[in-house]
Amino acid sequence: MTRSKVLVYKGLPADQVERIRAEHEVIELDPHSADQRSAFLDALGEVAGIVGAPYRIGEAELGRAKSLRVVSSVSVGVDAFPLAALHQRGIVLCHTPDVLTESVADLLMAMVLTASRRICELANLVGQGGWKTSVGPSLYGWEVQGKTLGVLGYGRIGQAVARRAALGFNMPVLYRSRSQVDSGLPDGLARQVDLPELLRESDFLVIVLPSSPATRGLIGAAELAQMKPEAILVNGGRGPVLDEDALVAALDGGRLRAAALDVFVTEPLPMDSPLRTHPKVLALPHVGSATHETRHAMATMATSNLLQVLRGEAPLAAYDTSGA
Ligand code: DGY
Repeated sequence: MTRSKVLVYKGLPADQVERIRAEHEVIELDPHSADQRSAFLDALGEVAGIVGAPYRIGEAELGRAKSLRVVSSVSVGVDAFPLAALHQRGIVLCHTPDVLTESVADLLMAMVLTASRRICELANLVGQGGWKTSVGPSLYGWEVQGKTLGVLGYGRIGQAVARRAALGFNMPVLYRSRSQVDSGLPDGLARQVDLPELLRESDFLVIVLPSSPATRGLIGAAELAQMKPEAILVNGGRGPVLDEDALVAALDGGRLRAAALDVFVTEPLPMDSPLRTHPKVLALPHVGSATHETRHAMATMATSNLLQVLRGEAPLAAYDTSGA
């Protein structure tokens, strides 16, 4: 087998780097580090594969990558990549679906519970020495049992959230998907609806959509205005699906009870974003899949994808860029 050069950028554990080294020459460079940036760009011109956490590779950078055959991302989402340009150049794009489904769904359910039971607010109260007497109604949370959970985007993760809500927390589930999708739950526990009904009826709306031309800005002022004023919105898909200015206006105007967000239009969240310190917002640093076990499983899958393409085999998960 020919040994090729592989560019490993930030985010791959040592045991996976060793797997690649067994078959190829490894170059490790971080494109975000000022003193490695130019070496990274030079290396792009020589390598057959690149692997790492999502990296926003531009078309100009891709233009340098004359021998690139595979881009293997340690993520399920592929919005960081120029899909059409990859397709045109015949470069295989691989990603890591399935292995992160349960951990992302766990976090989304935790966000539902944290926001509704005001866990951060109450923990801060104790931490700041404000627990002087037993907590009264002004600090009570809200039940989740029996409340309706809406899921916007009913792929693997959306379905895993629905299972937790319906079977674990006795919550009726509504979901919206562009195609006709079976709920994956016993009859009567979940129902597919259109977007207006989802917005109108959900007590918790969990967004699990990828960022694409069809989903960007899907939830804006008009959609938020259709939601119940006591609804809690959770976004664990991609930031651009939600209009952040419209969300702040809705929260300030009492149109929603709270929002729990793990994804943002710009990440890391800029210091001047009102979402960072808004009293009705729980903001997390994009950690849906960030457990030791899941991140390692993702890195292992991304490494297998890369090695398989370079061996001329079908990868475990190639993303279909033909429709881009
Ligand atoms: C994913 O895998 O797409 C997660 O959102 C991390 O980027």
